[in-house]
Amino acid sequence: MDPTTPPAVIASLADLVSPPAGSAMRRRDFVFGAGTSSYQIEGAAHEDGRLESIWDRFSATPGKVLRGENGDVACDHYRRYGEDLDILKQLGVDAYRFSIAWPRVMDEAGKPNARGIDFYKRLLGALSDRGIRAFVTLYHWDLPQHLEDRGGWLNRETAYRFADYADLMSRELAGHGDVAAWTTHNEPWCSAYLGYGDGHHAPGLKSHRWAAQAMHHLLLGHGLALPALRANAPRALQGIVANVAPGYPDTDTPADRDAASLFETFQNRWVLDPLLKGEYPADMWRLWKGCEPLVLAGDMDIIKRPIDYLGLNFYSRAVLRSPSPDSIDWVRRPDVERTTMDWEVYPQGLQDLLEAFKRDYPNLPPLYITENGMSSDDAVVGVDVDDLQRQAYIKGHFAACSRAMDNGVDVRGYFIWSLLDNFEWAFGYERRFGLVHVDFETQQRTFKRSALAYAAFLRERAAG
Ligand code: FCB
Repeated sequence: MDPTTPPAVIASLADLVSPPAGSAMRRRDFVFGAGTSSYQIEGAAHEDGRLESIWDRFSATPGKVLRGENGDVACDHYRRYGEDLDILKQLGVDAYRFSIAWPRVMDEAGKPNARGIDFYKRLLGALSDRGIRAFVTLYHWDLPQHLEDRGGWLNRETAYRFADYADLMSRELAGHGDVAAWTTHNEPWCSAYLGYGDGHHAPGLKSHRWAAQAMHHLLLGHGLALPALRANAPRALQGIVANVAPGYPDTDTPADRDAASLFETFQNRWVLDPLLKGEYPADMWRLWKGCEPLVLAGDMDIIKRPIDYLGLNFYSRAVLRSPSPDSIDWVRRPDVERTTMDWEVYPQGLQDLLEAFKRDYPNLPPLYITENGMSSDDAVVGVDVDDLQRQAYIKGHFAACSRAMDNGVDVRGYFIWSLLDNFEWAFGYERRFGLVHVDFETQQRTFKRSALAYAAFLRERAAG
């Protein structure tokens, strides 16, 4: 970003990603940001008393992560956070979404680990020095391994331990920086299903019954954490983040329409119905027969405690067919645009889904798009990373979000995933989601063209 670049060039650069003229997203109070998570960027896996997490254990298990990679070093953000926050500042974002590593901040007995907590105090201080607000996630998947050894999210006790952790961190971080929002969980669907249902994520277990029980305890932990968060951080917004996707029938037949609806139950309603309606969707147990979790009296009231916002992570859509009643098959459409995750690029899905949620949930709280972005094989050529596909992806999704807002959906902010290329879970470092390219040999950061365009847009908006 050369400050001498003439305004005309800056304007056209911004236009590579910017929301349409007149969009409500251009209002100054709409929050733009970028996101990361602890295990994916911090590294320093053994520093300052950090305990082992389920992702350390999983990554060390042969065959679980592509090329056997792990988060031991990642983006070395634990040491380089100053440089990374300078990058955020250059981007000109309003807010930064990051997560706290639970194993850094509490010991096995549940006592605070001051050295680990201090990192997040410094991080928040450094963010506020740069005028950037924080969206802090408590749980982005790195459960302390000692809790997993006692059953992890299959053990109801973990929900109570999570509430203790939320209480501790919101007390410790009170008065540090500018925390605009707390998030209890990032994507309970992934923690429950990928972690305990299909085994692609830590801890790598494979049972639908377990996934359903893990989901229940994750959601219970969310509800149990809310009173402490409200008490300790009364000015911050309190909420949760769900990964959501629309399902479309492959053919316009009752069977395929049913499959698409069952998919949306599995993908969206399994999480959102308990939170917003206080019940699990009955169709879920049509798909997973006999897998209902054990729910104790009062649990659903705890789970549906009011939240101030709902974060939605959106990447793609699914197309479904019905192989037989009560089951679904994913259809891989040929000749559609995809990313290196093999996810279809379908911005219209974001508009459709936002509008459907507004229809389906009368008590839908204000929304934030807490993740949206894509992976591509980005390479540095000279000093340039021309990530053409990402530029179009962002622009297309901003436009879809704008249309939903035009149609009355209350979206308040939008975070690009991710600030940096990072450890993409079971795919290791191969899948690059960053606005900023990271050379994992040298830890060199390079702005991709999409980052320059995002910064140009944010500058343009700030200038009015
Ligand atoms: C989401 C995760 C995030 C990242 C993106 C690509 O499911 O929350 O950590 O892996 O997908």
